[in-house]
Amino acid sequence: MTEQSLFIVKPDGVERKIVGQIISRFENKGFRIVKLKMLTFTKEMAEEFYSIHKSKPFFGELVSFIISGRVVVAVIEGNNAIATTRLMVGSTKSFEAQPGSIRGDFGLGITDNIIHASDSKESFEKEVSVVFK
Ligand code: CMP
Repeated sequence: MTEQSLFIVKPDGVERKIVGQIISRFENKGFRIVKLKMLTFTKEMAEEFYSIHKSKPFFGELVSFIISGRVVVAVIEGNNAIATTRLMVGSTKSFEAQPGSIRGDFGLGITDNIIHASDSKESFEKEVSVVFK
């Protein structure tokens, strides 16, 4: 089933100069890049993007982190894109993420966990509307 997903290389991934390696993983897997750009989130965009987490104790930290530097956002397309991308990204807590996944191979953090990926079709549509409007 061909579908689209969205990922964001977060400020820590850009700062560490691993954007190319991350994009290569998705291309090597067989996904096609449909949209790609670098931007800096505004506070308003971040609050909208993460609105589902508004009541969580880490919401403030999450927003501060995503606006702290440039990010790279991409829409990719291919078979089973949403679930496969989540598998490639790995668990939220990078220190627990499976080796072989992006978080498992590149990080140790939770807030600074290198990459975000849409977790459902509904999230994908909402996230695209925030970052590619
Ligand atoms: P992300 O995939 O961008 O989606 C929501 C983010 O919330 C998640 O990655 C983490 O960066 C962050 N997050 C989740 N749980 C926690 C937590 N317990 N403390 C701080 N940040 C968290």
